[in-house]
Parts: sequence; C-alpha cells; structure tokens
Amino acid sequence: MEWLIYRGEVVLVKGHFITVEGGEGAGKTTVLELLKDKLTQKGYDVLITREPGGISISEQIRQVILNPAHTEMEKRTEALLYAAARRQHLIQKVIPALKENRIVLCDRFIDSSLAYQGYARDIGIDEVLTINQFAIEDCMPSLTLFFDLTPEKGLQRIALNTERERNRLDLEELSFHHKVYEGYQLLLKRFPKRIKRVDADQEVDNVSALAFEYIISYLSEEDE
Ligand code: TMP
Repeated sequence: MEWLIYRGEVVLVKGHFITVEGGEGAGKTTVLELLKDKLTQKGYDVLITREPGGISISEQIRQVILNPAHTEMEKRTEALLYAAARRQHLIQKVIPALKENRIVLCDRFIDSSLAYQGYARDIGIDEVLTINQFAIEDCMPSLTLFFDLTPEKGLQRIALNTERERNRLDLEELSFHHKVYEGYQLLLKRFPKRIKRVDADQEVDNVSALAFEYIISYLSEEDE
C-alpha cells in the first residue's frame, strides 16, 4: 500500500493493512498472536488490533452493539454503529500506524459488515458497502485472510471456551451463522484478489503457517 484517501486527501503510507475474517470460533485471535511473533522475527513492526474496538470510543460502541440486553436494536442501526466504530478506529489507530511503516493486523473489518449485516441480516451487501465507503473513504485492506471453518465446528469450539465473552450475536440461531458463512463465500468470489481462504479446520500451528505464507507472498510482491 503506498497511498490512500483520508479526509478527502491523498496520503502516503508505507505500512500494510491486513485483515482477518471468519465466523465465530474460527481461531482468528489466537493465530493473530502467532503471526505477530513470526513477522516480528522477520524484522517487521506489527500492530494487532480488532473491530469493533481497538480504541476507547470504538470499544464503547462495541459495548452498545454487543450488549445481550439490546435485543431491540434495529439492523440498520447495528450496521451504522459498526461503521462508526470502524471510522474512529481507522482515524485514531490504523492510519497513524500505517504512516509509521507498521503492519496492521486487524481482527475483522469491512467484510464482517458485508457478511453479517449485508448478507445475514439481509440489508444487502451493496447497501452496507455504500455506508462503509462513507466511513472508510479509500482505506481498504490490501490483503484479507478468511478463516474457513463451518459454523457447526466454530460454535462447538466457542462452547468449550469458558473465557470467551458471550455477546448478543451469540444468541443468534445456527441458521444465522450459516448465512454469515454463505455471505463470506460470496465475498471470496467478489474479491478474489484481496481475500484468501485459509483452512481453519486444523491445528493452530498449521493455520498460522498457512496464513503466514499468504502474508509473506503478499509482502514480497509488494517489495518487488
Ligand atoms: P468478535 O467476537 O470477533 O470480537 O466480533 C464481535 C461480533 O461482531 C462478531 O459476532 C461479529 C460481529 N461483527 C459484525 O456483525 N459486523 C462487523 O462489522 C464486525 C466488525 C463484527
């Protein structure tokens, strides 16, 4: 990534914006830490962050969105809140890190909104893309890794993890998580160059090795 449009102006950045996506329990968070270690060993300066959240304002928006008591939240309100959290996080954390030459590894980004709100909640992928384009201007990730795991297996993993927070989206039926999965499949077809599939139905070390290969191959292409 060499430039992006930010506050209406072209800004030069030398860092790399990489996002990780997938359904619940796909193992993104654990693998991100392993990826950071591997990249740091290669001399890269890596920042791990997450959505919704990553900074105070966006973490507070996260609390509002994911509070299990907020069952009355309307789907477009939900989509707008994710987009608002995204905007603030980009401005306050992601873009400054990219300007400092860092690799930003972000746990979820725009594709989560497209799959969850656009497709699974039935707002429409293009409608959700439009409000997100307003939020992010031109700042799309250069590489996105989709951690591919069936909803059944993901939810099974979550059930075994007693430390994980339980949020409003966990209250959804299995059919909702299937729609999210289908949504991601559509995104893989729509953005084949940017989104790479990582088989997440294996040991974390293997998942991180696969993900690392994609990142290294992307970085070497960029350096050419
Ligand atoms: P997490 O459990 O991966 O931290 O994500 C929180 C939940 O928010 C998860 O169920 C996915 C959901 N989500 C959306 O529905 N839309 C979005 O844009 C984002 C970033 C997350």
